Amino acid sequence: MTEMKGKVILVTGAASGIGLETMKAVQAAGGIVAAADLSPVDGTCEGDMALSLDVSDENAVTATVEAVVACYGRIDGLAACAGVSVQGAATQMDLADWNRALAINLTGTMLCARAVLPHMVAAGRGAIVTVASVYGMTGGQGNTPYNVSKGGVIQLTRCLAADYGAAGIRVNSVCPGFIETPMTTMLQQASAMRDAFVAMHLLNRSGRPEEVATVIRFLLSDDASFVTGANVPVDGGFTAARPILP
Ligand code: NAI
Repeated sequence: MTEMKGKVILVTGAASGIGLETMKAVQAAGGIVAAADLSPVDGTCEGDMALSLDVSDENAVTATVEAVVACYGRIDGLAACAGVSVQGAATQMDLADWNRALAINLTGTMLCARAVLPHMVAAGRGAIVTVASVYGMTGGQGNTPYNVSKGGVIQLTRCLAADYGAAGIRVNSVCPGFIETPMTTMLQQASAMRDAFVAMHLLNRSGRPEEVATVIRFLLSDDASFVTGANVPVDGGFTAARPILP
């Protein structure tokens, strides 16, 4: 098990899905979790913090990070898992849809990273993991706001890694494929579309949120001490090849 004893990790989106499993993975490895979400967070342990947070609200993000640092005197890691699915091709979406996807998925990730960085720089160390998507790496149909926001998350991650690597901060992204969480409830229903989507993953199945959380935990830990600026697909092979044989 990757050791995280005593490390203080801010996990956004901790109420559900990948964020919830990331919280559990950090706890299981001995870390302390500051669990933030718009929705109430269940599952914090003694010594953890649960915080109500909208990641797209700059002042709220700043206040949340200050509260974490005031409580623990440090912040060692950020897992930026909060996100929303916003669908629509360009002519099907409202400007509000586009703005919402970018505000939460991209700007929200940037705001959280920006708020933790001064504390990490002062400490001379820290790790940030962002959560993008396979649809940040490839184009996709019918989800333009979401896909563009996730492409931005990958590039944001590289830029943060470039700017803060010399200060000892590592910044990496993960790109999940189809993961069974509340975000994908509709897609989990039996349908031709579900079957086609599953078949695009070389392992020919969907993933579980804990399979993403374990990679996030690794990237947050000192076991990944020479890994930065990387984008790690956790996608059952979705981005590796297009299967054509049954
Ligand atoms: P989920 O819907 O289970 O969890 C998302 C969490 O983010 C929820 O608890 C929600 O309350 C929180 N959240 C939403 N807006 C927020 C805001 N403004 N401020 C704070 N918290 C907010 O979804 P899931 O699947 O766990 O998604 C986690 C991340 O993984 C997201 O960034 C998502 O885009 C990404 N992802 C998920 C995939 C999947 O197949 N489930 C695939 C690729 C990426």
